[in-house]
Amino acid sequence: MATQRGGFSSRLGFILAAAGSAVGLGNIWKFPFEVGQGGGAAFVVMYLIFCFVLCFPVMVAEIAIGRKTQLNPVGAFKALGYKNWAIVGYLGLASGVLILSFYNVVAAWAFGYFVDILFGTFNVGEQAFGTFVADYVKVGGYGVLFMLSTAFIVSRGVSGGIEKAAKILMPTLFIMILALIVYALTLPNAMEGIKFYLIPDFSQITGKVIYSALGQAFFSLSLGMGALITYGSYVSKKDNIVSAAAAITLMDVGVATLAGFMIFPFVFSQGIETDGGAGLIFMTLPGVFESLGSVLGIVVGALFFLLLSFAAFTSTISLLEVPTAYMVDEKKIPRSKATWIVAIFIFIVGIPSLLSAGAVDSLTHFVTLKGAGDKSFMDFVGLIASDTFLPLGGFLIAVFTAYVWKKENFNAEMANGDEEIRGSWLQSYVDFAIGYVCPILLGSIFIVTVLDNFLGIRILDILFG
Ligand code: PHE
Repeated sequence: MATQRGGFSSRLGFILAAAGSAVGLGNIWKFPFEVGQGGGAAFVVMYLIFCFVLCFPVMVAEIAIGRKTQLNPVGAFKALGYKNWAIVGYLGLASGVLILSFYNVVAAWAFGYFVDILFGTFNVGEQAFGTFVADYVKVGGYGVLFMLSTAFIVSRGVSGGIEKAAKILMPTLFIMILALIVYALTLPNAMEGIKFYLIPDFSQITGKVIYSALGQAFFSLSLGMGALITYGSYVSKKDNIVSAAAAITLMDVGVATLAGFMIFPFVFSQGIETDGGAGLIFMTLPGVFESLGSVLGIVVGALFFLLLSFAAFTSTISLLEVPTAYMVDEKKIPRSKATWIVAIFIFIVGIPSLLSAGAVDSLTHFVTLKGAGDKSFMDFVGLIASDTFLPLGGFLIAVFTAYVWKKENFNAEMANGDEEIRGSWLQSYVDFAIGYVCPILLGSIFIVTVLDNFLGIRILDILFG
């Protein structure tokens, strides 16, 4: 059975693949603009704390559930003997399908920018981003390519596909980001950017900023949908999963932190406002690259969007792997066939998102929510899957681990491959967090998201003024 599913060939392979899942658009696209909106360094400090205090224990729990059962998220809960809890696995599948459906579109933007900049067909200017994303034939083409590449890797299996890709992509990504930082630091005003990024102004911290930092940390570590249950199911019983989770968290946090050292010098070199919102990467940076001159601008710009594409790629791989593993384990469909079925299905689910960036008006202005206002189809799916389902899934996983599966069993799985963890302060902390900190915080994020966005009840303003 185990041989049919495959598995990681080494602990390092697992760490790189899981770090690849974590490091994604969240780190390079979303993190800097959240920092910009959350007042710079104060947001960074909170983000770092949340990654370790809240997210790390959930990651250990997910990996432990996966490794214990050697199954996909749905099968895992069943195998532990709790059929009803398989609903958490199904919620994870739904999250994975929905997230990948729009994530692939943003990945297609990144890849499309890379190609256009490289071949000199990129039009910089006020309208460039709007024109680009509304061109659904072009973006759709890049989207097909991105999904095909993702499916190709996943269809080749865990060690032959996912692990191999991560072992190439992750070090390359790291080198690219370092090269871009070194270059960015030579730009005029770079230091202003670094100051904004590193000197915290704690007066900027509001309930809303704390809420965003929590959500961002959780999304960035790919938690709450069983991606880490799935990857954990391919980990050897002999491996130390606690230190692996620490390494994964560190790499993710490391790349997000590094992304700031690259983006803010770029942005400040042009004297641009930092709270540029989601357009920071796709609207602001191309102008910065253009100002570097034709050759340098192409090199730096293409390198940047290639970096973004690589980061997205290792994440789309993990997103596709979750439903694929479900089809392989539960439906007994051969991996390759399962991969293609799921990939095609998800691409189709993503078509309205593709069309909702200006191409079709009714999708671009899809709903008006009581709290969140006007949302495109894509934003709406993001709100449901990333902002609502993930914290809910994380809450349920924590509650399950602490109160249903129970501490003793969880701790026994943690100690597999790491006898020293027994009775250590780290284990005590993880147990405490899974039982109290994580359910409380994740439950709160979920409630705030629902109240604030869907019902228009500004609970954070009410509580924190
Ligand atoms: N962590 C990824 C990112 O930061 C997104 C992701 C979420 C991937 C959930 C897999 C599962 O971009």
